Amino acid sequence: MAYKIPLFNLNFDDREAQAAYATIKSGWISTGPKNAELEQMFIDMWGVKYAVSMSNCTDALHVCCMVCGFGPGDEVICPSLTFAASCNCIRYVGATPVFADIVGADHINIDPKDIERKITSKTKGIVVVHMAGFPSQMDEIMAIARKYNLKVVEDACHGPLSEYKGKKLGTIGDCASFSFFSNKNISTGEGGMFISNNEEMAAKARLIRSHGMSTMSYQRATGHATEYDITCLGYNFRMDDIRASIAIEQLKKLKGDLETRMTVRKLYLDRLTKIDGVVVPFADNTEFVSNYILPVVLLNSTKERRNKIRDFIHKAGIQTSVHYPAVHKFSIYKDLGAVLPKTDYVTDNEITLPMYAALTKEQISFICDTFEAAVKEIK
Ligand SMILES: Cc1ncc(COP(=O)(O)O)c(C=O)c1O
Repeated sequence: MAYKIPLFNLNFDDREAQAAYATIKSGWISTGPKNAELEQMFIDMWGVKYAVSMSNCTDALHVCCMVCGFGPGDEVICPSLTFAASCNCIRYVGATPVFADIVGADHINIDPKDIERKITSKTKGIVVVHMAGFPSQMDEIMAIARKYNLKVVEDACHGPLSEYKGKKLGTIGDCASFSFFSNKNISTGEGGMFISNNEEMAAKARLIRSHGMSTMSYQRATGHATEYDITCLGYNFRMDDIRASIAIEQLKKLKGDLETRMTVRKLYLDRLTKIDGVVVPFADNTEFVSNYILPVVLLNSTKERRNKIRDFIHKAGIQTSVHYPAVHKFSIYKDLGAVLPKTDYVTDNEITLPMYAALTKEQISFICDTFEAAVKEIK
């Protein structure tokens, strides 16, 4: 069944189509000038020194773990309330993820106090996820990183242009990743970005992105190089110029799209914060944020009730989701035996409601009416 109100809607118009068409007609479609233009836009918009485009955020996270030097025998602390990629990247480099709990239902990001409790002599880093685009407690996390000499990777995939105390998410830790997957704030189908202020990390990221090759095909095709060396073990994590040209159009619209999402969120908050037995995470946040998704958490509830409430909402034609099932409970991670009571509760009792700039006041009202009726009716 197609939902009357989907969870997300693509902010595409003729500009993305025209940009892709122009790149196809240009005769150069793999990584080239459009990627360079996109990277420069990130540098300018984020006020960061280096940006390296990637095939997706998962690869960007893999690269982050490589350039941070995580490896076999190391432990890296990460949340479990996230998409599996934020933890899998630690495994890709042979290190062990150590899960830390969240702060609580009102702040569903990793808890700095639990990070500190989980530190051992093997801890080398922290992967932070800014859920829904709301900042983790970065002052506390960076203080811990300095105290124990740890590297910090920001999975900022939910938070393009989100701010924490005036700083853009992704520019606070050592390096960061963004996603351009179809349902993200910047959509290209697949795609991602690595950013850092560290020259050495960025140079390594660029090498790893393309087989460790010292020159790229585009440089050779344009006469800027005639040969290459392979200087480290790299991968093919490149994004093509067709997608980069779409990302450029998406970036041009981003600020405006996020401003409208701020209004959508306010309309939601006005209603949702008045419903008994419901918490809206980060409701007290007043900074500019991406509002990638709209999570709500049911209080004194159960997974079974949450699922019935979701069914009720779906029957009204509104799509919902769950962000996320706890990673530490997946088959490949459960043997690590992580004990995370707050993550367990929230992952069993969270519902994600539709969030996008084109949602109308009437639609938001209908979603809130339906959600409130479900919460009241289903005990
Ligand atoms: C928090 C988080 N990290 C990483 C990823 C992976 O992004 P990609 O699909 O671009 O690899 C996602 C994707 O949903 C995500 O939500």
